[in-house]
Amino acid sequence: MPAVSFQSVSKTYQTPKGPFQALDHVSLDIEEGEFFGLLGPNGAGKTTLISILAGLARASGGRVLVQGSDVQADYAAARRKLGVVPQELVFDPFFNVRETLRIQSGYFGVKNNEAWIDELLESLGLADKASANMRQLSGGMKRRVLVAQALVHKPPIIVLDEPTAGVDVELRQTLWHFIARLNKQGHTVLLTTHYLEEAEALCNRIAMLKGGRVVALSSTSELLKTATSNVLQLKTDAALPASLAPLARVTGRIVQLPAQDAHEIERHLAALREAGIATEDVEIRRADLEDVFLQVMAAEQGGQTV
Ligand SMILES: Nc1ncnc2c1ncn2[C@@H]1O[C@H](COP(=O)(O)OP(=O)(O)O)[C@@H](O)[C@H]1O
Ligand SMILES: [Mg+2]
Repeated sequence: MPAVSFQSVSKTYQTPKGPFQALDHVSLDIEEGEFFGLLGPNGAGKTTLISILAGLARASGGRVLVQGSDVQADYAAARRKLGVVPQELVFDPFFNVRETLRIQSGYFGVKNNEAWIDELLESLGLADKASANMRQLSGGMKRRVLVAQALVHKPPIIVLDEPTAGVDVELRQTLWHFIARLNKQGHTVLLTTHYLEEAEALCNRIAMLKGGRVVALSSTSELLKTATSNVLQLKTDAALPASLAPLARVTGRIVQLPAQDAHEIERHLAALREAGIATEDVEIRRADLEDVFLQVMAAEQGGQTV
Protein backbone atom coordinates (compact mmCIF):
# COMPACT_ATOMS: atom_id res chain seq x y z
CA MET A 1 0.00 0.00 0.00
CA PRO A 2 1.45 3.43 -0.91
CA ALA A 3 2.07 5.92 1.90
CA VAL A 4 0.16 8.54 -0.08
CA SER A 5 -1.95 7.98 -3.17
CA PHE A 6 -3.18 10.96 -5.18
CA GLN A 7 -5.82 9.63 -7.56
CA SER A 8 -6.89 11.96 -10.34
CA VAL A 9 -7.03 14.94 -8.00
CA SER A 10 -8.52 18.12 -9.44
CA LYS A 11 -9.19 21.44 -7.79
CA THR A 12 -11.13 24.38 -9.13
CA TYR A 13 -11.16 27.59 -7.11
CA GLN A 14 -14.06 29.97 -7.50
CA THR A 15 -12.61 33.42 -8.03
CA PRO A 16 -14.22 36.80 -8.78
CA LYS A 17 -13.00 36.31 -12.36
CA GLY A 18 -14.68 32.92 -12.59
CA PRO A 19 -13.56 29.35 -11.94
CA PHE A 20 -9.81 28.68 -11.92
CA GLN A 21 -8.43 25.16 -12.24
CA ALA A 22 -5.39 24.86 -9.96
CA LEU A 23 -5.06 21.06 -10.25
CA ASP A 24 -5.89 18.97 -13.28
CA HIS A 25 -6.19 15.22 -12.63
CA VAL A 26 -3.02 14.78 -10.61
CA SER A 27 -2.20 11.10 -10.07
CA LEU A 28 0.85 9.86 -8.22
CA ASP A 29 1.74 7.39 -5.52
CA ILE A 30 4.38 7.91 -2.86
CA GLU A 31 5.71 4.64 -1.49
CA GLU A 32 6.56 3.90 2.14
CA GLY A 33 10.01 5.15 3.06
CA GLU A 34 10.48 7.41 0.06
CA PHE A 35 11.97 10.88 0.19
CA PHE A 36 9.75 12.38 -2.48
CA GLY A 37 10.15 15.81 -4.04
CA LEU A 38 7.28 17.82 -5.48
CA LEU A 39 8.73 20.58 -7.64
CA GLY A 40 7.23 23.27 -9.81
CA PRO A 41 7.24 27.01 -10.39
CA ASN A 42 5.17 29.37 -8.27
CA GLY A 43 1.50 28.79 -8.85
CA ALA A 44 1.99 25.23 -10.13
CA GLY A 45 -0.40 23.87 -7.48
CA LYS A 46 2.00 22.36 -4.93
CA THR A 47 0.46 24.00 -1.86
CA THR A 48 -3.04 23.25 -3.13
CA LEU A 49 -2.16 19.55 -3.45
CA ILE A 50 -0.67 19.50 0.05
CA SER A 51 -3.67 21.36 1.50
CA ILE A 52 -5.95 18.70 0.05
CA LEU A 53 -3.71 15.96 1.47
CA ALA A 54 -3.80 17.64 4.90
CA GLY A 55 -7.59 18.04 4.77
CA LEU A 56 -7.30 21.85 4.73
CA ALA A 57 -8.89 22.12 1.29
CA ARG A 58 -11.37 19.92 -0.49
CA ALA A 59 -10.63 18.37 -3.88
CA SER A 60 -13.14 19.14 -6.62
CA GLY A 61 -12.50 15.69 -8.07
CA GLY A 62 -10.53 12.53 -7.41
CA ARG A 63 -9.37 11.30 -4.04
CA VAL A 64 -6.37 11.10 -1.75
CA LEU A 65 -5.49 8.11 0.43
CA VAL A 66 -3.00 8.17 3.31
CA GLN A 67 -1.91 4.59 4.04
CA GLY A 68 -5.30 3.57 2.70
CA SER A 69 -7.35 6.13 4.65
CA ASP A 70 -9.37 8.58 2.55
CA VAL A 71 -8.57 12.17 3.61
CA GLN A 72 -12.22 13.16 3.36
CA ALA A 73 -14.17 10.06 4.38
CA ASP A 74 -11.69 9.08 7.10
CA TYR A 75 -10.19 12.45 8.02
CA ALA A 76 -9.06 11.72 11.59
CA ALA A 77 -7.25 8.50 10.67
CA ALA A 78 -5.56 10.11 7.67
CA ARG A 79 -4.57 13.27 9.56
CA ARG A 80 -2.97 11.34 12.42
CA LYS A 81 -0.56 9.64 10.01
CA LEU A 82 0.63 12.98 8.66
CA GLY A 83 2.96 15.63 10.05
CA VAL A 84 2.44 18.71 7.95
CA VAL A 85 4.75 21.75 7.98
CA PRO A 86 2.76 24.45 6.18
CA GLN A 87 4.27 27.06 3.89
CA GLU A 88 2.79 29.93 5.89
CA LEU A 89 3.94 30.61 9.46
CA VAL A 90 0.79 30.22 11.58
CA PHE A 91 0.62 29.69 15.36
CA ASP A 92 -0.79 31.02 18.55
CA PRO A 93 1.33 33.96 19.81
CA PHE A 94 0.27 33.54 23.46
CA PHE A 95 2.15 30.34 24.23
CA ASN A 96 5.80 29.55 24.62
CA VAL A 97 7.58 26.94 22.52
CA ARG A 98 7.18 24.01 24.92
CA GLU A 99 3.52 24.85 25.57
CA THR A 100 2.88 25.00 21.83
CA LEU A 101 4.30 21.48 21.46
CA ARG A 102 2.34 20.19 24.47
CA ILE A 103 -0.90 21.59 23.08
CA GLN A 104 -0.23 19.93 19.75
CA SER A 105 0.45 16.62 21.54
CA GLY A 106 -2.88 17.00 23.31
CA TYR A 107 -4.60 17.67 20.01
CA PHE A 108 -3.40 14.26 18.80
CA GLY A 109 -4.18 12.62 22.17
CA VAL A 110 -0.50 11.81 22.82
CA LYS A 111 0.23 11.61 26.56
CA ASN A 112 3.59 11.66 28.39
CA ASN A 113 5.33 13.16 25.41
CA GLU A 114 8.03 15.16 27.25
CA ALA A 115 10.95 12.92 26.23
CA TRP A 116 10.10 13.24 22.53
CA ILE A 117 9.42 16.98 22.90
CA ASP A 118 12.87 17.36 24.47
CA GLU A 119 14.43 15.40 21.62
CA LEU A 120 12.65 17.58 19.06
CA LEU A 121 13.79 20.77 20.82
CA GLU A 122 17.34 19.43 20.94
CA SER A 123 17.48 18.16 17.35
CA LEU A 124 16.04 21.36 15.92
CA GLY A 125 18.28 23.66 17.94
CA LEU A 126 15.37 24.98 20.02
CA ALA A 127 16.45 23.75 23.46
CA ASP A 128 17.39 27.22 24.75
CA LYS A 129 14.15 28.71 23.37
CA ALA A 130 11.79 26.27 25.10
CA SER A 131 10.39 28.96 27.43
CA ALA A 132 10.44 31.77 24.88
CA ASN A 133 7.13 33.15 23.80
CA MET A 134 6.24 32.39 20.18
CA ARG A 135 5.93 36.08 19.28
CA GLN A 136 9.50 36.74 20.50
CA LEU A 137 11.02 34.31 18.00
CA SER A 138 12.68 35.20 14.72
CA GLY A 139 11.19 33.87 11.49
CA GLY A 140 13.77 31.08 11.31
CA MET A 141 13.07 30.00 14.89
CA LYS A 142 9.32 30.03 14.24
CA ARG A 143 9.96 27.78 11.25
CA ARG A 144 11.78 25.33 13.54
CA VAL A 145 8.81 25.30 15.93
CA LEU A 146 6.47 24.59 13.03
CA VAL A 147 8.61 21.58 12.13
CA ALA A 148 8.65 20.36 15.75
CA GLN A 149 4.89 20.87 15.95
CA ALA A 150 4.34 18.75 12.84
CA LEU A 151 6.43 15.92 14.30
CA VAL A 152 5.07 15.91 17.84
CA HIS A 153 2.92 12.80 17.29
CA LYS A 154 5.70 10.91 15.43
CA PRO A 155 3.76 10.70 12.19
CA PRO A 156 4.89 8.01 9.72
CA ILE A 157 4.56 10.54 6.88
CA ILE A 158 6.22 13.96 7.02
CA VAL A 159 5.06 16.66 4.63
CA LEU A 160 7.10 19.85 4.24
CA ASP A 161 5.86 22.71 2.05
CA GLU A 162 8.82 24.95 1.18
CA PRO A 163 10.33 24.58 4.65
CA THR A 164 13.55 26.36 3.69
CA ALA A 165 12.11 29.32 1.76
CA GLY A 166 13.94 32.37 3.05
CA VAL A 167 15.70 30.62 5.95
CA ASP A 168 19.39 30.75 6.73
CA VAL A 169 21.95 28.11 5.79
CA GLU A 170 22.32 26.92 9.37
CA LEU A 171 18.64 26.08 9.73
CA ARG A 172 18.60 24.40 6.33
CA GLN A 173 21.41 22.14 7.45
CA THR A 174 19.91 21.41 10.88
CA LEU A 175 16.59 20.65 9.27
CA TRP A 176 17.93 18.38 6.54
CA HIS A 177 20.14 16.51 8.92
CA PHE A 178 17.15 15.78 11.14
CA ILE A 179 14.66 14.99 8.37
CA ALA A 180 17.18 12.70 6.63
CA ARG A 181 17.65 10.84 9.93
CA LEU A 182 13.88 10.38 10.32
CA ASN A 183 13.69 9.16 6.72
CA LYS A 184 16.43 6.59 7.44
CA GLN A 185 14.40 5.44 10.44
CA GLY A 186 11.52 4.70 8.05
CA HIS A 187 9.46 7.89 7.89
CA THR A 188 8.17 8.78 4.44
CA VAL A 189 8.94 12.37 3.43
CA LEU A 190 7.10 14.56 0.92
CA LEU A 191 8.88 17.82 0.25
CA THR A 192 8.21 20.83 -1.92
CA THR A 193 11.10 23.20 -2.44
CA HIS A 194 12.42 25.92 -4.67
CA TYR A 195 15.98 24.84 -3.98
CA LEU A 196 16.64 22.29 -6.68
CA GLU A 197 20.04 21.35 -5.30
CA GLU A 198 18.28 20.35 -2.07
CA ALA A 199 15.82 18.20 -3.97
CA GLU A 200 18.63 16.63 -6.00
CA ALA A 201 20.60 15.80 -2.87
CA LEU A 202 17.71 14.51 -0.76
CA CYS A 203 14.91 13.07 -2.90
CA ASN A 204 14.96 9.59 -4.39
CA ARG A 205 12.00 10.41 -6.64
CA ILE A 206 10.59 13.64 -8.02
CA ALA A 207 7.36 14.88 -9.57
CA MET A 208 7.28 18.17 -11.42
CA LEU A 209 4.03 20.10 -11.55
CA LYS A 210 3.19 22.83 -13.99
CA GLY A 211 -0.14 24.58 -14.35
CA GLY A 212 -1.72 21.95 -12.09
CA ARG A 213 -0.53 18.98 -14.14
CA VAL A 214 2.20 16.42 -13.53
CA VAL A 215 4.75 17.02 -16.29
CA ALA A 216 7.51 14.73 -15.03
CA LEU A 217 7.56 11.84 -12.57
CA SER A 218 10.66 9.75 -12.18
CA SER A 219 13.54 8.74 -9.96
CA THR A 220 16.00 11.57 -9.47
CA SER A 221 18.76 9.65 -11.25
CA GLU A 222 16.52 8.92 -14.28
CA LEU A 223 15.49 12.56 -14.45
CA LEU A 224 19.11 13.64 -14.46
CA LYS A 225 19.75 11.25 -17.35
CA THR A 226 16.79 12.45 -19.47
CA ALA A 227 18.16 15.94 -19.78
CA THR A 228 21.05 17.45 -21.51
CA SER A 229 24.11 15.75 -20.15
CA ASN A 230 26.46 18.75 -20.06
CA VAL A 231 26.43 22.48 -19.62
CA LEU A 232 29.00 24.86 -21.07
CA GLN A 233 29.33 27.77 -18.68
CA LEU A 234 31.22 30.99 -19.25
CA LYS A 235 31.25 34.69 -18.52
CA THR A 236 30.96 37.42 -21.11
CA ASP A 237 29.88 41.04 -21.48
CA ALA A 238 28.89 40.64 -25.13
CA ALA A 239 25.50 39.74 -26.58
CA LEU A 240 25.29 36.14 -27.79
CA PRO A 241 25.00 35.32 -31.52
CA ALA A 242 21.47 34.58 -32.72
CA SER A 243 22.21 30.86 -33.03
CA LEU A 244 23.00 30.56 -29.31
CA ALA A 245 20.80 33.17 -27.66
CA PRO A 246 17.60 31.06 -27.58
CA LEU A 247 19.42 28.13 -25.93
CA ALA A 248 21.20 30.11 -23.25
CA ARG A 249 20.38 30.69 -19.63
CA VAL A 250 21.81 34.08 -18.71
CA THR A 251 22.30 35.35 -15.17
CA GLY A 252 24.12 38.67 -15.23
CA ARG A 253 27.43 37.93 -16.97
CA ILE A 254 27.11 34.18 -16.57
CA VAL A 255 25.96 32.26 -19.62
CA GLN A 256 25.00 28.59 -19.47
CA LEU A 257 24.53 26.59 -22.65
CA PRO A 258 23.15 23.05 -22.52
CA ALA A 259 24.94 20.51 -24.69
CA GLN A 260 24.29 16.82 -25.36
CA ASP A 261 27.92 15.87 -25.97
CA ALA A 262 31.43 17.07 -26.76
CA HIS A 263 30.51 17.85 -30.39
CA GLU A 264 27.79 20.22 -29.32
CA ILE A 265 30.16 21.91 -26.89
CA GLU A 266 32.59 22.36 -29.78
CA ARG A 267 29.84 23.86 -31.94
CA HIS A 268 28.89 26.32 -29.17
CA LEU A 269 32.53 27.35 -28.75
CA ALA A 270 32.94 27.73 -32.52
CA ALA A 271 29.83 29.93 -32.72
CA LEU A 272 31.24 32.15 -29.97
CA ARG A 273 34.64 32.35 -31.69
CA GLU A 274 33.10 33.19 -35.07
CA ALA A 275 31.04 35.96 -33.48
CA GLY A 276 34.27 37.32 -31.96
CA ILE A 277 32.91 37.10 -28.42
CA ALA A 278 35.45 37.36 -25.62
CA THR A 279 34.81 34.84 -22.84
CA GLU A 280 36.18 34.25 -19.36
CA ASP A 281 36.06 31.40 -16.87
CA VAL A 282 34.94 28.81 -19.39
CA GLU A 283 33.98 25.51 -17.81
CA ILE A 284 32.06 22.38 -18.68
CA ARG A 285 29.92 20.76 -16.00
CA ARG A 286 27.43 17.95 -15.75
CA ALA A 287 23.77 18.95 -15.98
CA ASP A 288 22.04 19.19 -12.61
CA LEU A 289 18.42 19.10 -11.53
CA GLU A 290 17.99 22.80 -12.22
CA ASP A 291 18.94 22.22 -15.86
CA VAL A 292 16.44 19.34 -16.05
CA PHE A 293 13.77 21.44 -14.41
CA LEU A 294 14.23 24.33 -16.85
CA GLN A 295 14.24 21.92 -19.77
CA VAL A 296 11.03 20.22 -18.63
CA MET A 297 9.32 23.56 -18.04
CA ALA A 298 10.46 24.90 -21.42
CA ALA A 299 9.28 21.73 -23.20
CA GLU A 300 5.90 22.22 -21.56
CA GLN A 301 5.50 25.62 -23.22
CA GLY A 302 5.41 23.66 -26.45
CA GLY A 303 2.91 21.24 -24.97
CA GLN A 304 5.10 18.14 -24.85
CA THR A 305 5.53 16.04 -21.75
CA VAL A 306 8.77 14.46 -20.58
N1 LIG B 1 -7.78 30.11 -2.22
C1 LIG B 1 -7.51 30.33 -3.50
N2 LIG B 1 -8.40 30.95 -4.29
C2 LIG B 1 -8.15 31.16 -5.60
N3 LIG B 1 -7.02 30.80 -6.23
C3 LIG B 1 -6.08 30.17 -5.49
C4 LIG B 1 -6.26 29.91 -4.08
N4 LIG B 1 -5.17 29.29 -3.61
C5 LIG B 1 -4.33 29.16 -4.67
N5 LIG B 1 -4.88 29.69 -5.78
C6 LIG B 1 -4.27 29.73 -7.12
O1 LIG B 1 -4.00 28.38 -7.51
C7 LIG B 1 -2.73 28.28 -8.16
C8 LIG B 1 -1.84 27.31 -7.42
O2 LIG B 1 -1.45 27.89 -6.19
P1 LIG B 1 -0.55 27.11 -5.15
O3 LIG B 1 -1.14 25.78 -4.91
O4 LIG B 1 -0.34 27.99 -3.99
O5 LIG B 1 0.79 26.95 -6.00
P2 LIG B 1 2.30 26.69 -5.52
O6 LIG B 1 2.28 26.23 -4.11
O7 LIG B 1 2.81 25.65 -6.47
O8 LIG B 1 3.02 28.00 -5.69
C9 LIG B 1 -2.18 29.70 -8.21
O9 LIG B 1 -2.51 30.26 -9.48
C10 LIG B 1 -2.91 30.41 -7.11
O10 LIG B 1 -3.04 31.79 -7.39
MG1 LIG C 1 3.21 26.90 -2.42
